[in-house]
Amino acid sequence: MATDFRKACSADLLLPALNSAQPRPFHAFALPGASRTASWNFTSASAITPEIACVVSPGDYSFSALRKTKECVIAIPTVDLARKVVDIGNCSGQEVDKFEKFGLTPQPGKVVKAPLIAECLANIECRVVNTTLVNRYCLFILEGVQAWIDRKRKERRTFHAVGNGTFIVDGRTLDLKKRMVKWPEHIVD
Ligand SMILES: Cc1cc2nc3c(=O)[nH]c(=O)nc-3n(C[C@H](O)[C@H](O)[C@H](O)COP(=O)(O)O)c2cc1C
Repeated sequence: MATDFRKACSADLLLPALNSAQPRPFHAFALPGASRTASWNFTSASAITPEIACVVSPGDYSFSALRKTKECVIAIPTVDLARKVVDIGNCSGQEVDKFEKFGLTPQPGKVVKAPLIAECLANIECRVVNTTLVNRYCLFILEGVQAWIDRKRKERRTFHAVGNGTFIVDGRTLDLKKRMVKWPEHIVD
């Protein structure tokens, strides 16, 4: 699977990738060390830089791991993995090794120690860059430092949490790149 991953980019492709996943993108989340994953919603924290905001519940294993290691991988699953992702988000890495339990393949990244998830369409290696809002809001600011995409993957539809255990699946793509004249540096063919 490693050979199927190609380096996508850093900031230039990362930002459109994140923006296209809004609102409330739903991702799996890998942490260094004991091969654990969670399930989270993320949002882009900046209009220009590849910064990502995530609120993590302080009772979760991920909260203490993020605080301690200051890094993680955001793995972006497609709709075929939806049931598995929800199950992953309904148990804790404190009790199970989620890679093992859910048949996920850890793959080494380039910058951080946390593993990529080979079954996912894309993976973003992240470092925690700001913790000033953690005590008050449990909000971590991450910076994407390396992005990967599996260009051979046939299923490319991602899914988005809209609350109450329900999700919207990507549908038709509208390509309006030509109208995005104000920020040509952020448009990628
Ligand atoms: C659809 C869905 C979305 C979730 N989004 C979040 C989130 O944004 N923040 C959060 O703290 N937990 C969220 N969770 C809950 C965590 O995924 C869950 O508590 C997880 O199992 C924690 O694992 P851990 O203890 O290994 O960190 C979500 C769960 C699901 C099923």
